[in-house]
Amino acid sequence: MAEIKEIRKTEREKASIHSHITGLGLDEKGKPKFKADGMVGQLEAREAAGIVVQLIKQGKMAGRGILFVGPSGTGKTALAVAIARELGEDTPFNMINAAEIYSTELKKTEVLTQAIRKSIGVRIREKRLVYEGGVKDIKIKVARSRMNPYVQVPREAELTLVTKDDSMTLRVGEEIAEQLMRLPVRKGDLIWIDANTGEVVKEGKAKGIEGAKTYDIETVRYLDLPTGPVKKEKEITFTVTLHDLDLNAAARNISITALFSLFTEREINQDIRKEVDNLVKDMINRGNAELVPGVLFIDDAHMLDIEAFSFLTRALESDLSPILILASNRGITKIRGTDIESPHGIPLDLLDRLLIIPTRPYNAEEIKEIIKIRANEMDIIIDNDALDYLTKLGVESSLRYAVELLEPAQIIAQRNGRNTITTEDIKEASTLFSDTKRSVKYVKEYENLLLK
Ligand SMILES: Nc1ncnc2c1ncn2[C@@H]1O[C@H](COP(=O)(O)OP(=O)(O)OP(=O)(O)O)[C@@H](O)[C@H]1O
Ligand SMILES: [Mg+2]
Repeated sequence: MAEIKEIRKTEREKASIHSHITGLGLDEKGKPKFKADGMVGQLEAREAAGIVVQLIKQGKMAGRGILFVGPSGTGKTALAVAIARELGEDTPFNMINAAEIYSTELKKTEVLTQAIRKSIGVRIREKRLVYEGGVKDIKIKVARSRMNPYVQVPREAELTLVTKDDSMTLRVGEEIAEQLMRLPVRKGDLIWIDANTGEVVKEGKAKGIEGAKTYDIETVRYLDLPTGPVKKEKEITFTVTLHDLDLNAAARNISITALFSLFTEREINQDIRKEVDNLVKDMINRGNAELVPGVLFIDDAHMLDIEAFSFLTRALESDLSPILILASNRGITKIRGTDIESPHGIPLDLLDRLLIIPTRPYNAEEIKEIIKIRANEMDIIIDNDALDYLTKLGVESSLRYAVELLEPAQIIAQRNGRNTITTEDIKEASTLFSDTKRSVKYVKEYENLLLK
């Protein structure tokens, strides 16, 4: 499987409104602490989510699903993000909103198939011939670009790699020099270069190389210098998703012009998927790979329609199935595409396969803590009275509304020459920006006038 040269990280959700969440905040016994890892309250749901994480890690969840149910703003999406953080880098976690399946470019089943394949990882083990060591010296030669004489591009590089027992100076060409410049690789880094493909991987900083500078903007991992020779066989493992492999295989059978549309929206040929599946099965049989069932999280699941639901129900039953996590804030509602009413708009046969975790509305204390965490996350300073006032708004309107007011209030405070948000700033922000109850009342009042 030497063809997979590109290591693509599985796509992860970057949604900044949940950026404060680093885990489920559980103790060693799996019991939730009131406030930990950016999570507050919602204790039963967090404990249940912790059990789900354990089941996933033990491989006991494949082909089964979870449904988070609760009112808006009660942390359903937050819990899903926390589960992703607990699972770690190596388990694919793919998050979509149900509305995304109604794309104009692709069939619903294609969107879902891609989503499913992005949620199944393949951990691949490979032996590679590499040069590995700490960078003792590095010189990159630049020259004017042939395309644009005003731009300097790397031409070649010379670097010395050291281990505890060995030292080796390498002269490398343009492609590797370009990677060395881009990463960037500096004196003191611990790196390896694939002897066949030229891929350069930066592992961290090597301990004990003299004269190496540290740059404090970087998050640094300090590693011991390796022992033995610089040039050696190294076993590396990495996880890609089935979808990554599909794209990789598709790219090999494709013209340059088609390549441009490849990474946007494009249907992948079923034959290519079969080819990839066979390849993966082969690697597994040879002991060079294993499957890592990841999580497919579908937010606002009541937006899925009957076709999507039956597709997912079938998918859960196949060998290559991810763990399905759904979330919904609806009660009894019509299953989209039918006249049938069902709990959360989800067909009963699928509901039967799901473990349901309810989330409850927050009390004042919890709302206050969540606002504090969010303010801290956004580097916003708020005084105690203002925090109490915002908490009150959160109780009366919604947690979301209270959190949404933080940034406008900060701007108002700054305009008044202050760094700290006071009650006045919150009051002003809440008159400028309405909550839902008020906006509905407003439109009702004016409806009569407007429509006459
Ligand atoms: N228990 C919690 N601890 C910390 N932050 C939380 C918690 N619950 C919710 N939040 C934060 O509050 C905000 C609203 O929560 P979230 O988006 O998860 O609600 P939701 O249940 O998914 O709502 P909806 O049904 O509208 O999608 C987010 O910024 C989220 O990160
Ligand atoms: Mg949500």
